[in-house]
Amino acid sequence: MYAFAKRAATLPKYAFARTDEMKAEAKAKGKDLIDLAIGNPDLRPPRHAIDALHRALDDPNRQLHRYSPFNGIPVFREAVARWYKKRFRVDVDPETEVLPVVGSKEGLLKLALAMLNSGEVALVTSPAYPAYFPAVQVADGVAHELPLLEENGFIPDLEAVPASVLSKAKYLLFNYPNNPTGAIEVDFYEKALAFAEKHGLLAVSDIAYSELPLDDGVVTRSIFQLDPEKKRSIEFQSFSKTYCMAGWRAGFLVGNRDVVAMIRKIKTVSDFSIFPAIQAAAAEILDGPQDCIDDLRKIYRERRDVLVQGLRGLGWNVSSPKAGMYVWTRIPKKFASSEEFAVSLGLSTGVILSPGGGFGRAGEGFVRMALVEPKEKLADAVDRIRKWGGI
Ligand SMILES: Cc1ncc(COP(=O)(O)O)c(C=O)c1O
Repeated sequence: MYAFAKRAATLPKYAFARTDEMKAEAKAKGKDLIDLAIGNPDLRPPRHAIDALHRALDDPNRQLHRYSPFNGIPVFREAVARWYKKRFRVDVDPETEVLPVVGSKEGLLKLALAMLNSGEVALVTSPAYPAYFPAVQVADGVAHELPLLEENGFIPDLEAVPASVLSKAKYLLFNYPNNPTGAIEVDFYEKALAFAEKHGLLAVSDIAYSELPLDDGVVTRSIFQLDPEKKRSIEFQSFSKTYCMAGWRAGFLVGNRDVVAMIRKIKTVSDFSIFPAIQAAAAEILDGPQDCIDDLRKIYRERRDVLVQGLRGLGWNVSSPKAGMYVWTRIPKKFASSEEFAVSLGLSTGVILSPGGGFGRAGEGFVRMALVEPKEKLADAVDRIRKWGGI
């Protein structure tokens, strides 16, 4: 056998690899699956997104089929800057403060590679999007988990980070509206920036769900509304959830120009940015009408209500998210672990959920349900759980 690098050999199985196994087992038992494990949107991208891509593919100059510049085509970066202005009233320099990424997931890995020496620390809220942790490990760093507790509204206690950890820390990574908890921040960005300033850290905001507040009055922000000079911060945004374009692999990183330049440098050794035709289409999408997002929010709100109310009707005290596309809730008390609960439920009913332990240590005892099936299917899931009787 080859002697693989420790960083690869010791990488734990990715959270969703485990749910894939669960699905295979349930299928082998003849179960018809209702798959709520991954936040992989089932809805069509908006019509104008698909039309824009068709037009870009037919580009008469063929420029959009060639290699992209490493920092993306200007049309894309300029559209990102206009979007920030329109959406958050924030000024962004398209030349130096924007970098397309092949999905935020790719950018998050390159961030770790750009920032961490061996043994240095990334402060990462937990539970979190599962890729946050292994990205740090691949960069030979250490992810220090900041627990998001229900009693604190899923906002981290920054003062609890030990001095010995802080002395090795390089960045603080957080995500609001939060995956998986559905929590929103109200005044956390102020605290995060003050903390970053005090300890010489970079504040890294991930706003993949900023366009998906589900209830009236829920306000989502950009970190740059508080750090307009981008002295201490960068921010990731993705097309995957806002426009149901997860397979297109399109996102962007905006922020501190030194950090943007360093991540761009790392990317010069790995890729040529997003396929230019997708960049051109993505630029049109950002500039185009945004009412498709209102429709999407309405669909997620209806799905959430069917699932939450249905499960509450079974006596399960399920929490209702304010934003995003996930229901995150405690498992029933009689189960010893989130994995035991999810496996037992999945193999008995075909309803596949993600055990909370896969989202970080503070996720144990919870389970996540992604709202990626139509409401009729969610009602069916509730029905199957009722018949199972395990709640
Ligand atoms: C918080 C968060 N950030 C980033 C991503 C990855 O997005 P992308 O598809 O742009 O890689 C996800 C996907 O689920 C997410 O939940």
